[in-house]
Amino acid sequence: KKGGYDHFMIKEIFEQPKAIKDTLMSRIDDSGKINLDNIDIKSEDIKNIEKIYIVACGTAYHAGLVGKALIEKYARIPVLTDIASEFRYNNPFIDEKTLMIVVSQSGETADTLAALRLAKEKKAKVLAVCNVVGSSISREADYVFYTWAGPEIAVASTKAYTTQVVSLALIALYMADMKGTIDEFEYKKVLEEVKVLPEKIEKILESQSNIKSAASYISKSSDIFYIGRGFDYYLAMEGSLKLKEVSYIHSEAMAAGELKHGTLALIEENTPVLALATQDFLYDKMISNIKEVKARGAYTIALAKEGNTEIKGVADFIIYIPSAIDELTAPLAVIPLQLLAYYVATERGCDVDKPRNLAKSVTVE
Ligand code: F6R
Repeated sequence: KKGGYDHFMIKEIFEQPKAIKDTLMSRIDDSGKINLDNIDIKSEDIKNIEKIYIVACGTAYHAGLVGKALIEKYARIPVLTDIASEFRYNNPFIDEKTLMIVVSQSGETADTLAALRLAKEKKAKVLAVCNVVGSSISREADYVFYTWAGPEIAVASTKAYTTQVVSLALIALYMADMKGTIDEFEYKKVLEEVKVLPEKIEKILESQSNIKSAASYISKSSDIFYIGRGFDYYLAMEGSLKLKEVSYIHSEAMAAGELKHGTLALIEENTPVLALATQDFLYDKMISNIKEVKARGAYTIALAKEGNTEIKGVADFIIYIPSAIDELTAPLAVIPLQLLAYYVATERGCDVDKPRNLAKSVTVE
């Protein structure tokens, strides 16, 4: 059942190149354009959208945050994001010119389903990014973009996240094309980058052995902090959640620039800090943040793009990912973070596939 792997989580981590390929396959036509005909969202409908709400829970919410940044960047539509259990009670700004995007692997998460129903009541159209055909969310949404990740068994979500991010990237580019907010050159360039994600992930999976030594350090710690800026902040949230849920180590994700507004007080001698530094234009700022925590004794693990040599003299341990445009580092950089969580959890003898207190599908509010 686990196909030769010790756990479903690691099996599903390794399935990501295929899951992404499957998700992309039927969506890009021979002319190299994204084709969402079978979702039946009309270009008129897209032009009429004044704002978008992306609502989800947990890991799906983290994918939604990446989606927000992509849609705002390429399609220039304002996107609000909310956690489903909060959204419902926040008196959200929804009308017929709002598109609601819900993101859900299972399609059964009670809060996300309730958020969808609320949006429909207020006359918004709902687009679901969902992995389970025939699930409640996929049945009740106006449009469904299926992630073809295949069944995800491990409680900790891995391949669902990467396929959600890729789906949202396609949605962002599609909307941008419809609205004319992206030129052909950039559209092609970004889409090419999306298409090579599976190969790049394959490479990361082949070269994962050094991650085990970072995992071994972290497994002996009681706290860890993930820091980043922009896309890396959203990634920090996902990396941190993954680690805490499977290893039971207390972990926090922080926007790197927020550290000095309080959290820096928690950095002590040997506290591990995972610094995500994949964003070229924010790189110098991240280097300062790494120095800032190092000066307080932190053990710093940096994640950067290949070819980035400057970071070598700064962080204690470096994890490299293949180079990519800043907008598409999340689905690459999340792979070492998933592996790290997995190795830390197995080293600590945790029940990785079924962490205590958690359920795969959260059908209660
Ligand atoms: C974390 C995890 C959860 C789910 C969340 C939403 O690894 O799996 O945070 O992402 O419960 O579930 P779905 O996507 O099924 O709505």
